[in-house]
Amino acid sequence: MSATRQIHNLALIGFMGTGKSSVGRLCAAALRFDLIDTDQIIEERAGQSITEIFVKQGQETFREMERQLVAEMAGWRQKVICAGGGLGANEANLASLKQHALVVCLWASVETIWQRVRHQGHRPLLQGPDPLGNIRSLLEQRSPFYKQADVLVNTELRSLREVADHVLHQFKGARSESPAQQP
Ligand code: S3P
Repeated sequence: MSATRQIHNLALIGFMGTGKSSVGRLCAAALRFDLIDTDQIIEERAGQSITEIFVKQGQETFREMERQLVAEMAGWRQKVICAGGGLGANEANLASLKQHALVVCLWASVETIWQRVRHQGHRPLLQGPDPLGNIRSLLEQRSPFYKQADVLVNTELRSLREVADHVLHQFKGARSESPAQQP
């Protein structure tokens, strides 16, 4: 990582069902950072659920809301940012996040993701007739972006606590090298 990177925040990206919210909560508590959930902010601002935004305004409007929010993050400090699954699968969003955050991608296989999300009904992209097929093709499409994260953490066979500890270890290491932390 470049010695000039400013690491003020921790950004968790990755596919739906990889544990970003749960791991983010543990990391935020340990670091005493604010926990930010991008979906939650977008829902609050729109006064609509993510599903309603997708249905009534369309996915492209939702992506634009994500892009605007990412731009605002440049001035943020001491935040753990839990990004919606599609936010980190975008070159410009990734580049912007890397200006101020260590970008950590949580990873899981198609099968594991399916087992984790199959009984949850709040994700518009998994509402079609073939959610498993959707997960497979979306993950394949997004992998090249997710793999550009600073750190890729496999969440298979690890507890949330173990994943969080690993993320925290990486974050503290990166931050100690960041010029923002040096006197
Ligand atoms: C999406 C993931 C969701 C939410 C929206 C779209 C995606 O967030 O932003 O349903 O494109 O993968 P989670 O990853 O928090 O479920």
